[in-house]
Amino acid sequence: MEERQVWRGGNMLYPVPAVMVSCSRQGEKPNIITVAWAGTVCSAPAMVSISVRPERYSYSIIKETGEFVINLTTRKLTRAADFCGVHSGKDTDKFEACSLTALPASKLKTVVIAESPVNIECKVKQILELGSHHMFVAEVEAVDVDPQFIDEGGRLDLKRADLAVYSHGEYFALGDRLGSFGFSVRKRKGGNRRGKRG
Ligand SMILES: Cc1cc2nc3c(=O)[nH]c(=O)nc-3n(C[C@H](O)[C@H](O)[C@H](O)COP(=O)(O)O)c2cc1C
Repeated sequence: MEERQVWRGGNMLYPVPAVMVSCSRQGEKPNIITVAWAGTVCSAPAMVSISVRPERYSYSIIKETGEFVINLTTRKLTRAADFCGVHSGKDTDKFEACSLTALPASKLKTVVIAESPVNIECKVKQILELGSHHMFVAEVEAVDVDPQFIDEGGRLDLKRADLAVYSHGEYFALGDRLGSFGFSVRKRKGGNRRGKRG
């Protein structure tokens, strides 16, 4: 086998979501910033993080208001997500430019994106000044779900939402379903292996 190349340290954790983060402050139009450096950081309480460069227009809004919404990105929303990641709210109304609808959030003063299947309403708890990016560590106050993705049993069927991911500079739709949580240890229906249950 050929020797592996060792590169200097850099960001290579992929795939990640490229979420559309909505935020707003009084007297200004609501804004959307696309964020790939986002993650889940705690289950109880439910907490997430987004890392934002201080020079972004959205940075001061989120810092001042202590609020933002993570809107999940779908195949249909990918063009808008890219647009919101290359234009600034300083000079562009991204909701209008992308024909997106701002709806009032349920628990925050800001807005959610109606076209996104899931809106995660977050309140900032800590700001970590890491370097190029400052990380907003936030608690999830509410999750708003488009009812078309809730099945008859009241469960969220997220695979119907056609979510998109971002990997090394490119956007992708999700591919084949390979299993579900714990499938490697789960007994097969009707017996583990033929013969075990007769
Ligand atoms: C796919 C993608 C991912 C991005 N991820 C981040 C990120 O994690 N943090 C960040 O500060 N900017 C990120 N950006 C850049 C911002 O979205 C971009 O600078 C945007 O124009 C800022 O908008 P604003 O000035 O209205 O806040 C990303 C852009 C794209 C296209």
